[in-house]
Amino acid sequence: MQKKEIGFSYEVYDSLEELNKEDAQLLNEARAVTKNAYAPYSHFRVGAVAKLENGQIVSGTNQENAAFPAGICAERVLLSAASSLYPGVAIDTLAISYDNENGPSDQPISPCGICRQSLQESEQRAGKPIRLILGGQKGQIYIIPKASLLLPLAFTSDELK
Ligand code: THU
Repeated sequence: MQKKEIGFSYEVYDSLEELNKEDAQLLNEARAVTKNAYAPYSHFRVGAVAKLENGQIVSGTNQENAAFPAGICAERVLLSAASSLYPGVAIDTLAISYDNENGPSDQPISPCGICRQSLQESEQRAGKPIRLILGGQKGQIYIIPKASLLLPLAFTSDELK
């Protein structure tokens, strides 16, 4: 028997002012784009903004549905938009924020499991890490150097070979 451990390092910042200018701008855009969410059921508006390798900026917001499972998270709206508008172009950095109409928005957001799976595929496909900037409207900000770190032992296309 062997015991193994998986862990990763990430950066924690106390406020937007501590980020470099480009990261601060991206997170600010993610905070602002939450206004475009369609979240009449959860009242939890999520915004995602990515800078692609070619310099283009793409955004996504959560789009809910009366048939709840038909709703889509902001991250996957963004990944689909980026891949449709700029097929094959890697995502460099992705900022995600939220605005909770029912409570505070002062903790870094945590992408859901399905989005982690989609992010890992996107990263693997492009062969380039996606840096994640996770924040609320205020409060601490996490920078994760590689999205797939959030999904250890992921099921990937390698398994289908
Ligand atoms: N949601 C996202 O869009 N991204 C996340 O990272 C977490 C959750 C959405 C799904 C749903 O519309 C609402 O937030 C509440 O779960």
